[in-house]
Amino acid sequence: MSGDTDLFEIMRTMRAMRRLKPDPVPDELIRKILEAGIYAPNGSNAQSWRFLVVKDPEIKKAVQVHYKRAYDEIVSPRYAGAAPPPGSTEEKYTRQHTAVGYLTDHFHEAPVWIVPCIDHGDSTPNRHSGASIYPAAQNMLLAARALGLGYTLTTRHLLFEKESEAALRLPPGVHSYAILPIGYPMGRFGPVGRGSLSDFVYEDSWGQPAPWV
Ligand SMILES: Cc1cc2nc3c(=O)[nH]c(=O)nc-3n(C[C@H](O)[C@H](O)[C@H](O)COP(=O)(O)O)c2cc1C
Repeated sequence: MSGDTDLFEIMRTMRAMRRLKPDPVPDELIRKILEAGIYAPNGSNAQSWRFLVVKDPEIKKAVQVHYKRAYDEIVSPRYAGAAPPPGSTEEKYTRQHTAVGYLTDHFHEAPVWIVPCIDHGDSTPNRHSGASIYPAAQNMLLAARALGLGYTLTTRHLLFEKESEAALRLPPGVHSYAILPIGYPMGRFGPVGRGSLSDFVYEDSWGQPAPWV
């Protein structure tokens, strides 16, 4: 266990853990994480989610190639030209960029990935579908955190969706919504950097600050 038990403190310090040790994660822990995933709310309780657990180094490497291409061609140049987001600084943003680059190079070395998927058949994925799978993803991150495991919610493989899903060997109609690389963290959990509530919260009218935040 990580030692923290206060849920608010856990959420406050639940930053992306991009540097992971290659040590295997026991199946028993992966099972606990998956169990937490299926406790999540989902539309009509249809539970159309499916979770592909990937440990095979060849499959992970085949996906990492596309993940890295997306970094080199799209994500890294975007970081280089962007201002730090709310709650961050130039220095912190540079560190984030470095950590994102590190995870890119070592993506396939995470001992286990959980890939939340939905079998859409012939229908088109929409916001409702996402809303029925990301709560499960967040539950799984919380569970990993509670077990002292590191994680990052990643979706960059979707920039090369067809290629990545082919590398994941997903059957037709099945789509992935994220890849959660999970392993024992090299560093420590730490505070997330966010703007202040007043940057984001309105009351009654769009743009009207809520006086109590
Ligand atoms: C939809 C979504 C997609 C993300 N994709 C990636 C990704 O592909 N690679 C990555 O390193 N981090 C990814 N992240 C993690 C964010 O970069 C991270 O949450 C954000 O920078 C804030 O950092 P923190 O969670 O450590 O506070 C993603 C997060 C979300 C919610």
